[in-house]
Amino acid sequence: MKGIILAGGKGTRLDPLTRITNKHLVRVYDKPMIFYPIQTLLNVGITDILIVSGPGHAGQFMELLISSPEFNGTHFSYLVQKEAGGIAQALGFAEDFADHSKTIVILGDNIIEKNIKNAVDDFSTQPKGAKILLKEVEDPQRFGVAEVKNGRIIRIIEKPQDPPSKLAVTGIYMYDGEVYDIIRTLKPSARGELEITDVNNAYLARAELTYEILEGWWSDAGTHESLRRVDKLIAETGANHPG
Ligand code: DAU
Repeated sequence: MKGIILAGGKGTRLDPLTRITNKHLVRVYDKPMIFYPIQTLLNVGITDILIVSGPGHAGQFMELLISSPEFNGTHFSYLVQKEAGGIAQALGFAEDFADHSKTIVILGDNIIEKNIKNAVDDFSTQPKGAKILLKEVEDPQRFGVAEVKNGRIIRIIEKPQDPPSKLAVTGIYMYDGEVYDIIRTLKPSARGELEITDVNNAYLARAELTYEILEGWWSDAGTHESLRRVDKLIAETGANHPG
């Protein structure tokens, strides 16, 4: 399987840190943010990784990763998303890279404590469709939220004011090659973006969406507050445990 890290977007919630650089190059504890999702992929044995970033930043990612011996043996590809047209739009550019195969997609600001190998192994034996990872959180209105009944997801709502559960959809997604056909059918949301939640709901409508509850802690690092929280979590327990 190949991996895709989505590292575009404007990063406005981390202003002024992101005025001249990309959010995913900002420090998290003792490393640039992008190191964490890369390690998440390496921990499940994925060494062929596409990084989709925004205009003006792809060169910075290249220089950083070429000069990082931590990732010797990893093959990186790079693509630029010209405008922040949404997570699903950024993923749409990865079609040639994916080449009809299953892929793991990680949002560049998603950091986790533990290895996701069990979920990935499970997905590799799933005949088709998609798998998402859910995690109970205290502030579900900040995320995509899944309503689960009798062990099945019945709907996913993006940033609901009145969340039907505390189960946030984390930014770790597993898709088969059909995802690009789904993305082609999407219309921009009220905020003008192609939404990854619409992709997941399309798989749900086909009854091809499975889920697991993520083990260990999970955090995004896209706001000053979440960046502080993730620094603290890493100081306490470390991140990206290989086992
Ligand atoms: O972190 C998980 C959440 O991520 C999910 O629960 C939500 O369903 C999903 O919509 C997303 O919500 P956010 O509002 O946190 O997404 P944000 O706009 O902050 O983008 C997250 C990452 O996605 C960002 O670090 C880079 C990538 N991205 C985002 C956009 C809008 C792109 O590569 N291109 C884009 O155009």
